[in-house]
Amino acid sequence: MVDDERMIRWSIQQALSKDGHSVAAVETGEEAVAQASDEMPDLVFLDITLPGIDGVEVLRRLKSIEPSVSVVMVTATDDVKTAVEAMRLGAYDYVSKPFDLDRLRVIAQNALDRHDLRQEVEFHRKESVKKYGFHRIVGVSKRLSDVVEIARKVARSEAATVLLQGESGTGKDLLAQAIHYESRRANRPFIPINCTALPTELLESELMGHEKGAFTDAKAGKKGLFEVADGGTIYLDEIGDMKVDLQAKMLRFIETKTFKRVGGHRDIEVDVRIIAATNKDLPGAVRSGAFREDLFYRLNVIPIEMPALRERREDILPLADHFLALLNHDVKREVPGFTPETLSALREYDWPGNVREMRNLIERGLILGEGEYLEIRPSSGLAGRQSPKVPANTEGGMDRGAAGTAAGTTVGTTDTETVGAGVDPHTGATGGGIAAMFTLPSRGVVLEEVERSFIVQALEMQGGNQTKAAELLGLTRDALRYRMKKFELL
Ligand SMILES: Nc1ncnc2c1ncn2[C@@H]1O[C@H](COP(=O)(O)OP(=O)(O)OP(=O)(O)O)[C@@H](O)[C@H]1O
Ligand SMILES: [Mg+2]
Repeated sequence: MVDDERMIRWSIQQALSKDGHSVAAVETGEEAVAQASDEMPDLVFLDITLPGIDGVEVLRRLKSIEPSVSVVMVTATDDVKTAVEAMRLGAYDYVSKPFDLDRLRVIAQNALDRHDLRQEVEFHRKESVKKYGFHRIVGVSKRLSDVVEIARKVARSEAATVLLQGESGTGKDLLAQAIHYESRRANRPFIPINCTALPTELLESELMGHEKGAFTDAKAGKKGLFEVADGGTIYLDEIGDMKVDLQAKMLRFIETKTFKRVGGHRDIEVDVRIIAATNKDLPGAVRSGAFREDLFYRLNVIPIEMPALRERREDILPLADHFLALLNHDVKREVPGFTPETLSALREYDWPGNVREMRNLIERGLILGEGEYLEIRPSSGLAGRQSPKVPANTEGGMDRGAAGTAAGTTVGTTDTETVGAGVDPHTGATGGGIAAMFTLPSRGVVLEEVERSFIVQALEMQGGNQTKAAELLGLTRDALRYRMKKFELL
């Protein structure tokens, strides 16, 4: 409380102390600035007419010490013009003398609530940066550092559109989040939109919203994601898969940052940054006509290429250590490191599924492996297990991310269906490791053929002894005979 009139100081101090606030009262602007630089109060009541530096100047100085401080100006009745100027300088409100103490108490409470809210927002923003910032991106290579450096500049810039290209699993999502959460947009939404997931009509109302009555059950208007994202970032993931008819609408939106709700006529303008990502060859898609050239150029303002992991091998071991620590925690294990063989295998592997593949591999190894040190072999899933003979074509692939297989013959992800003919995963000695050993070839299989082939192999290995063959397959002898009949082997 800054006022040269003793009575005013006293009455405000009384009223606010009763509400539980602790109030310091000073007579001059100089004293106020000196005290505030020791400790800034949450709220300042500031008289405009003071003996030394005047209230407006005090306001300026307080704001330069702490821009978020809330200041309520106290004015003589004829001084409203100055009060308005003070508001322009960032004062929160003003009260004219003589004032009603109750009104003053309400103003104080509102200003303090707002102060708390701001602190809370700032707290969450800092938490988000901790959770999603650039520090999450692990790696030591020059290629990666260059990418991160560009992304940091982009984050500081206002709203430049970014096009992230790179193979599946290279960290595009991670980078997009970091750009958002380390920009001034951080306390507004980050809205990821998967461009493949929805059919065009649905996607359109999802993105642009709709007006009341736009279709039969549109009983009320609804904001779309473009509106929700106002002030924040829209992440258009898998942009290369966007249908051509939607591309035209997207082009208009990106050019003008305006759109119309479905069934609406007015243009709605929003302030958003667009980050688009794809693991497709977008220039190629432009050449083949699958992607609009004008849209490509609109998006390609700041192109960022995420390098494949095999092009930055120095990152392999730091990433492996990072995931070991992270996933140990998640799966409640305390594996201290990798076996030497594993380390060299990790280093030499080509990582077609990039960082995601490594993460999955280490997670699987931690869940299934039992040794003190982590033993994994990237080319064949879990090491240390006897691989049964498998049909040609299924060797060599472990977890290949969705798009990393242009040249490969096998596609397998962690959720690939097990191709283990007749092997009961619950009884087989191989147990949960089976999925790691057999991967489904991209051209597919006829499951019955695989099953038949395994039965024949088991019988051959056991010299035709059905009981022993059944054991190898995790079946009872009767269950084996039933299948042999089915396949006309009996
Ligand atoms: N440099 C990195 N440091 C730490 N984790 C990473 C890094 N790069 C990728 N990851 C992790 O790898 C996984 C895959 O990354 P992300 O989802 O960002 O890939 P993407 O490029 O978007 O792949 P897709 O094209 O398939 O969508 C995530 O779990 C991510 O956290
Ligand atoms: Mg992604």
